Amino acid sequence: MIELEFKHYLYLVMLAVAAGAFVLKLLKKSNVKQAPSREILNKDRKPGQWMPESYQFPIPPPFLNWDIEKTRPLPYRAFKHKYTITMGIRNMELDLWIELDNEWHKYHNDKVMRAQTLGNDVYGTYPEARAAAFELLDEFWNYLPARYPSLFKQLPTGMENLVTGEVFKFKNCNPDDITEDPMLMAAKMVQDDLAIMIEGSDGIYYLKAGAIILPGFWRFKDKKGMPLHEIHTSGDVPKYNEKLHSGMAKFFTRLTCDKPVVRNNYFIQTDDELAWSSSIGDEKEDVVGWYTADAAKSAQQLYFRSERQSLRRLPKTGAIVFTIRTYFCPISELCEEPHIPRRLFNAVESWSEDVKEYRGYYKFKDALLPYLKEKAEEQEKRGIIEEKEPSVYPF
Ligand code: HEM
Repeated sequence: MIELEFKHYLYLVMLAVAAGAFVLKLLKKSNVKQAPSREILNKDRKPGQWMPESYQFPIPPPFLNWDIEKTRPLPYRAFKHKYTITMGIRNMELDLWIELDNEWHKYHNDKVMRAQTLGNDVYGTYPEARAAAFELLDEFWNYLPARYPSLFKQLPTGMENLVTGEVFKFKNCNPDDITEDPMLMAAKMVQDDLAIMIEGSDGIYYLKAGAIILPGFWRFKDKKGMPLHEIHTSGDVPKYNEKLHSGMAKFFTRLTCDKPVVRNNYFIQTDDELAWSSSIGDEKEDVVGWYTADAAKSAQQLYFRSERQSLRRLPKTGAIVFTIRTYFCPISELCEEPHIPRRLFNAVESWSEDVKEYRGYYKFKDALLPYLKEKAEEQEKRGIIEEKEPSVYPF
């Protein structure tokens, strides 16, 4: 009898040890992942649903010696000898989210003037994007004064611009005190145009807020409310369905808060207007496009337009912020830089027929190509040849 009881006792101890080991193993496994359960939930979330995440975008260091009068725009020359249609995204260095320089005043003045005259044609926020737009303002509140302390100051109720004296109220205040559209407030702080994409219950992203005030070739009023694919197909972006659509849809679903990206593009413009390229038609016309444009008469009329775009997921609302910063300079200035005329010549010549149509090739080729060729040959005579070109271009 005593022997039987001892056996039972032994079985019980063995069972307890095994159960303990199992629990320990489980705990160890969960420690390895170290992610709060809600962030795992967002990974497998239902379309259109988002649980707020604890992620905090790091506060950047101040931009060393940044000066609103002296800091020059970055020389993005985002073209290769051969053009290929790809998403062209790369990881963004977090400190470099927003780039400001000595053209800030021009961009800001153009924005203020155009927002006044064009109103909701150039900016606006759908009710379902309002929380995301205020989250964007909060992100600017954290980022801009830290990165550009000579331009911005945090206030308990919002932000002060130390150069223009503008005060933006968007925090800890009575909703009645907020009289301006949040996207317009955000756009007045930076040189970028801004858009917010919100995921619908169909898993598709929609343009639900924006301040698209210096877009050059497209209009916020034509695209607001649209799904991502229609934004692109309505503009006849070449090979969108074949080469971009599915990759972009997957990218948008999977983008995480800690892994923002950037991409650059480039266009040739046949006038010097940053905000709206009037060569393709009056901004107020119903339909605008390259087909209405006159052919450029000389290279002096041509401008190089290049956008640096960033995409970031906001942690609280899960909305995606799209920033579009345009860099703009005369082609003649660009061609003074080593290797540029040959590379741009090759790039433009490599465009396929649909890309040519989309980018207005036939309206500037006769002014652009002989000029690029002449400039390239001048450089090559001086020994600036393709074989000596650095293989990493300054994007
Ligand atoms: C991964 C993200 C994205 C990729 C890869 C992409 C790709 C492209 C490409 C290839 C073009 C043709 C011009 C160029 O080369 O840039 C284009 C045009 C355009 N994209 Fe995107 N895009 C992205 C996100 C967005 C978002 C979030 C918006 C929201 C506003 C947007 C709005 C537009 C517009 C309005 C155009 C001009 C269309 C027109 O000509 O009417 N894109 N995009």
